[in-house]
Amino acid sequence: MYKDLKNKVAVVTGGSKGIGRAVAERFGKEQMRVVVNYNSDAQQAAEAVQAIEAQGGQAVSVHGDVSSEAGVQGLLDAAVQQFGRLDVWVNNAGMEIKSPTHELSLADWNKVITINETGVFLGAKAALNYFKAHHQSGNIINMSSVHEQIPWPTFASYAAAKGGVKLFTQTIAMEYAKDGIRVNGIGPGAINTPINAEKFADKAQYDQTVAMVPMNRIGKPEEVAAGAAWLASAESSYVTGITLFIDGGMTLYPAFKDGQG
Ligand code: NAI
Repeated sequence: MYKDLKNKVAVVTGGSKGIGRAVAERFGKEQMRVVVNYNSDAQQAAEAVQAIEAQGGQAVSVHGDVSSEAGVQGLLDAAVQQFGRLDVWVNNAGMEIKSPTHELSLADWNKVITINETGVFLGAKAALNYFKAHHQSGNIINMSSVHEQIPWPTFASYAAAKGGVKLFTQTIAMEYAKDGIRVNGIGPGAINTPINAEKFADKAQYDQTVAMVPMNRIGKPEEVAAGAAWLASAESSYVTGITLFIDGGMTLYPAFKDGQG
């Protein structure tokens, strides 16, 4: 628990399931007030709100597409109307499309880039404008991926988007450090969420993924949420512009693990 987080107001995009849901619920445990954004699954967002309230936090679920400026503005408005302020903005919403790159349609490329990268820009812009207008410090956390660093054939749009998120995070961290606004990324590895449900249901693919993790297991959404809570809290007060990899060592070149090479 981080005492300074109590009563702070957070927006979590894509907060209805997976990692976003775990972050929203962890913020609830920290007694924060949370705007749980969803795009399509109102029921799961409502369950997230209930879970947060059961932990002693406060929450509201708000529909909004992160790839639309109006959708993102609606999340900021909800934070201010419901809870009177904004302290933390988590750009978590994301999705991926698998395709050999030479067959990837422009529409699918644009969809992945728009949600994963432009959505991060729009969320960060809304939060920055709020913090600047209120002359207050603030905290932005962008959910990136190990694929901001590791190339991922047949997921070129996703890797390009996350690579973009990395330098966007570093750039605005530098641009707004003087304003007391901290901006950091989180790079999850293989985490057990709906995005991976189909893949992990297949034992061969599950085992293949585990073999790429030095810690020899798939991560839990709560383990990513723990990093988000630390980055949101004053315990990380001198940290800005990093990517906190939460990946069981996946970014450590696991092919070398027995001294090969
Ligand atoms: P998920 O599929 O379980 O959840 C993604 C969330 O984003 C859902 O709530 C979905 O409704 C929401 N979303 C998608 N498009 C949206 C839009 N246009 N507007 C608003 N919300 C939208 O996936 P997961 O695993 O929880 O992913 C969360 C983040 O973590 C994503 O940015 C993903 O790229 C990243 N990540 C996940 C990893 C994993 O292994 N699960 C690994 C590395 C990164």
